[in-house]
Amino acid sequence: MAKLRLKKSVKKVLLFLILFIIVLIGATKLIKTYKYHQTYEYKFLQINYNLDEINILTKYLDNRTLDKLLERQYDVNIPKVINKKYFLLKNLDRYLDYIPKNPDKSIDDCIALVNVNRDKPYYEDLQTTKESDGIAMLVNKYHALSKDYEPDDIVKVSTTYSYSGMSLKKEAYDAFKKLADDAKKEGYTIVILSSYRTYEYQDELWSKRKNKNGIEQADAYAARAGSSEHETGLAIDVADYNHPMNFGEQESFTWMINNSYKYGFILRYPEGKENITGYDYEAWHYRYLGPELATKVYNEGITYDEYYEFYLNK
Ligand code: DAL
Ligand code: ZN
Repeated sequence: MAKLRLKKSVKKVLLFLILFIIVLIGATKLIKTYKYHQTYEYKFLQINYNLDEINILTKYLDNRTLDKLLERQYDVNIPKVINKKYFLLKNLDRYLDYIPKNPDKSIDDCIALVNVNRDKPYYEDLQTTKESDGIAMLVNKYHALSKDYEPDDIVKVSTTYSYSGMSLKKEAYDAFKKLADDAKKEGYTIVILSSYRTYEYQDELWSKRKNKNGIEQADAYAARAGSSEHETGLAIDVADYNHPMNFGEQESFTWMINNSYKYGFILRYPEGKENITGYDYEAWHYRYLGPELATKVYNEGITYDEYYEFYLNK
């Protein structure tokens, strides 16, 4: 009798154990599923991203941004833009708007163009240049100086270094003198053709162009008043004194390209970047940024518009 009871209780224990194991396995599975449903992988799969795309999203974006993306619909271009070097999160919606409208352009080009505001028309919605940036200030078709802006420290440029009547911000002038003296040692006489301009003078130059060639050509060649770097006293147009025509074809130009950044000057409107800068190629126009910043921009190999928007416009 006692033996039978023992057998029965062993059976009960066994049954209980089996049930317990079944419940445990079930619960573990449920917990696992629950946990997986909390992952970004699961959540992004639900809105149609594939695993490769999800890997990119989670590699480059923080949780806050990922949560925000989950509130949007699937967009094939999101993973394509976020791992690009010059991707700026603040511009995401503008990239997503711009890319489908410009199927002929690469993703990198679209990012660069949006970063410098080329998804908006020139001279509309003009921001005031952050003059407190000093020698790093950005002046272009989207950032203009206030009408009454007057740079300090403007000094006259000697005719040793320029055609007559030029003036420039002293720091830029001192740097240019060093540049010109060193170029001279190598046989190149580089002189300033145009330097500091007032708002009124820039207006006169642009208006003359406009009256002669029409607004489109005037805009491709000259800045409208307020939007010229020449108004900062930090920009120069140069020429080779001994070969005054076609600066871009002179050896002195090659010297400038290879050396000017060491003195703080960069070529501001390079060939092939017309769409970014908004200007035709100008082999003669250099902008003073100081040797440190100019070297960084030179090494980065991008225009100053792009550099400023990506690294400095915080
Ligand atoms: N030519 C340059 C863009 C200026 O007018 O400032
Ligand atoms: Zn110029």
